Amino acid sequence: MADQTAQYIFMHKDIPVAEFGLDTATGAIVSIGQVYEPRHVPVGIPVRKGSVDRGALNEWWRGRSIPASRSGIWEALRELRISDSRILAEKCLGLSLSDQYWICPVGSGISWGQVNFFENPFSEDVGNILLGKGSDSGQISLMSPDNTSDGWLKKKWTITEGKRCLVKGGSGATRQEPYNEVLASRICERLGIPHVPYTLLEEDHCPYSVCEDFLTPDTELISAWYVMQTKKKPNHVSVYSHYLDCCSTLGIPGVKEAVDRMLVLDYLIVNEDRHQNNFGVVRRADTLEYVGAAPVYDSGTSLWFDKPTGLVGTKTASKPFKNSHEEQIKLVTDFRWIDFSALAGIDEELREIVRGSLFIDEARCSVLCRALRHRVELLEAAASEQAAQGKGFADSTRFDVTEDRAYSGEVHA
Ligand SMILES: Nc1ncnc2c1ncn2[C@@H]1O[C@H](COP(=O)(O)OP(=O)(O)OP(=O)(O)O)[C@@H](O)[C@H]1O
Ligand SMILES: [Mg+2]
Repeated sequence: MADQTAQYIFMHKDIPVAEFGLDTATGAIVSIGQVYEPRHVPVGIPVRKGSVDRGALNEWWRGRSIPASRSGIWEALRELRISDSRILAEKCLGLSLSDQYWICPVGSGISWGQVNFFENPFSEDVGNILLGKGSDSGQISLMSPDNTSDGWLKKKWTITEGKRCLVKGGSGATRQEPYNEVLASRICERLGIPHVPYTLLEEDHCPYSVCEDFLTPDTELISAWYVMQTKKKPNHVSVYSHYLDCCSTLGIPGVKEAVDRMLVLDYLIVNEDRHQNNFGVVRRADTLEYVGAAPVYDSGTSLWFDKPTGLVGTKTASKPFKNSHEEQIKLVTDFRWIDFSALAGIDEELREIVRGSLFIDEARCSVLCRALRHRVELLEAAASEQAAQGKGFADSTRFDVTEDRAYSGEVHA
């Protein structure tokens, strides 16, 4: 049988990190040769005595392919005539719009400047197929950042007025996620929470959220999941404390304040899926210097998005630290930065965002507005309780989230 291994240099921008062999049939890393720059191996991948843990790097690399749980992936792969999404990452040299890693074919002489998607145009063929719009061009180009995009919602990268933007759909009968993204942005704006601004786009009556790439050619996102792989978590340490410990050891500034703000937002919007890939930190790729916490992104799985109207207001799951919103909000020790008066009329703003939707009717909209108003009252009560208790709350592993969805490949219920 012919050898199906292709030789690549694993690159971080123009810095060669390691040699590796990729099985072109499965997309798996089958060998790791010389390691040139251990410091540039992705965060959280163990390097021992100069050797990279191949299993861990494979898992990281698999995380660069579209998950099997992505809505509509099988239809898209059929149209692309590709058997497995794991093969797609190789077709775009592993390039992404969320970090600066890529693979350079040995002997090709390709530089990062020639191929990266931040500065070079890219094909929207794959993105259009993933959104179920087909592709106009007879010859489909697979050079696309969509090949390496994560998450289960239908999405595509596009270039609008020179800016790289992520267009993301909604799910189920209510398609609520895009509206929720916009609402989360408005709450963040009102409360001064650093965030990725999302706007609403309607195409063929369907809602999509649109946000700009928050990374630049110099910066990259590292998910909380990988930050937490940099140290072993002792059993008696909570997930929350472990995250803060890892960030502190890595010298990342401002994380506690940023997490407080994210948890306040998630409490208000009852976010069910802030898993460990839905927040993280930003660092500079060349210097490896940490900039700080990433702005809040991906807040769509909120406000009972997948529940029938009759269940809006009922108890829902919570992530990433505690398994209930009531317990998770106790991790916030300082609410003094919140100007509650800035939230006045937020329910009416939600009504405006949803207005005209074919998917969310008047009745659901009213119930959602009422529920949101109630969340603001509950947050105020939680803040008063915390102020009354002072430093009374001591975190422990009680109520900890025990299994994070990141990389489980689990399909949403
Ligand atoms: N504005 C952005 N700029 C750069 N990268 C982004 C941006 N938004 C999202 N990403 C990256 O794309 C991935 C998928 O996007 P996102 O989390 O919004 O999708 P999703 O389908 O809602 O995910 P999930 O499966 O968590 O619900 C993120 O985990 C992140 O790595
Ligand atoms: Mg996500």
